[in-house]
Amino acid sequence: MDHNAVMDAIYARGWAIVDDFLSPAEVAALRACLPAAWQPAGIGREGLHQGNADIRRDQIHWLDAELGAPVADYLARMESLRIAANRLLMLGLFDYEAHFARYRPGDFYATHRDAFAGRSNRRLTSVFYLNQDWQPADGGLLRVYDDGEQHLMDVSPMGGRLVLFLSEEFPHEVLPAREERYSIAGWFRVNGTGLGRVDPPR
Ligand code: OGA
Ligand code: MN
Repeated sequence: MDHNAVMDAIYARGWAIVDDFLSPAEVAALRACLPAAWQPAGIGREGLHQGNADIRRDQIHWLDAELGAPVADYLARMESLRIAANRLLMLGLFDYEAHFARYRPGDFYATHRDAFAGRSNRRLTSVFYLNQDWQPADGGLLRVYDDGEQHLMDVSPMGGRLVLFLSEEFPHEVLPAREERYSIAGWFRVNGTGLGRVDPPR
């Protein structure tokens, strides 16, 4: 993957999609690390995702390198992206947190933002998909809106695909899945909320 091209896209429009970020074999290796135990999503580490089955129905498991070498490798790749985002976009990202997410048939996540300016330290969202052979009939699209809440695009959760977007700028939702849908949702964070920060040029 070309870090420069990805950061250019984020600079120009705030988001990037990288198909085949990982190979099918690497996706399968990550799937083999899926945990046996899941927790209901909802109590976000920052209290932003006040959990409620009306808002989101997915289940999560926070990522940890001890889940296996493929997970450690994934986290190392995110670390490379973090360094590139800081070098090329001066985002000042300090760390990264991520969880596996499982949507069972019927599960969804209603429209939300991952961060609100001055109230969160999440700056850049990543979503990586672990689904092989996802079909249109399987639902579960990521529907993205622009900052003015106009429909921007629908993204199929195809295995190997990585989506990156600025956490504060794009409301989004997960439409109801009709098959089990697996992903890794993650956030690159700054120190503090960044109130008073100078925003990178857009
Ligand atoms: C999230 C989220 C999108 C997706 O976990 O905050 O919006 O496509 N996930 O799984
Ligand atoms: Mn989200």
